[in-house]
Amino acid sequence: MEKHHVEIMIPEDEVDRRIQEIGEQISRDYQGKQVHLICVLKGGSFFLCELAKRITVPVSLDFMSVSSYGGDTKSSGVVKIVKDLDESIKDKDVIIVEDIVDSGRTLSYLLSMMRDRKPASLKLCTLLDKPERRVIDVNVDYTGFEIPDEFVVGYGLDYDQRYRNLPYIGVVKFD
Ligand code: IMP
Ligand code: MG
Repeated sequence: MEKHHVEIMIPEDEVDRRIQEIGEQISRDYQGKQVHLICVLKGGSFFLCELAKRITVPVSLDFMSVSSYGGDTKSSGVVKIVKDLDESIKDKDVIIVEDIVDSGRTLSYLLSMMRDRKPASLKLCTLLDKPERRVIDVNVDYTGFEIPDEFVVGYGLDYDQRYRNLPYIGVVKFD
């Protein structure tokens, strides 16, 4: 691992406040319905838990894990399902919960795969968005923060599997 340190980009209280707002927004938008949250492991897990706690309409959860086919997700965008959902999403009001949308490749693939399973509705919620990096257009319904093109960690995001447990969004600085 290259020599580096982590600086705070978005402090914990600001992240918490924003997640509270998104939780309230989702609760309003899904009034009278049940939302089915899908977490994309592992990065989305911290955000999903904090968000789910702040949604006041009925919630159910499911988890999936994906990896890129062959080398790099960033080059192909074709993802392999490592762990599929436990339950069918047919006729459910689904929100995919992600840590970050970068090039948009993973998400656009995942969205089309989920659409084929005929949910009643399908939305996307991401904690972070790096719009400058977008290669494939994806429609994000709920965004926590738009951030510049820097490598971030914390709140589920990792650098070589480290730092997922940081309670804030940090930026990796190479020394
Ligand atoms: P995509 O390029 O939008 O397909 O994003 C692919 C994946 O790259 C994301 O789900 C993250 O797991 C990872 N990723 C993108 N940017 C960052 C970052 O700044 N820090 C950590 N992981 C990232
Ligand atoms: Mg991810």
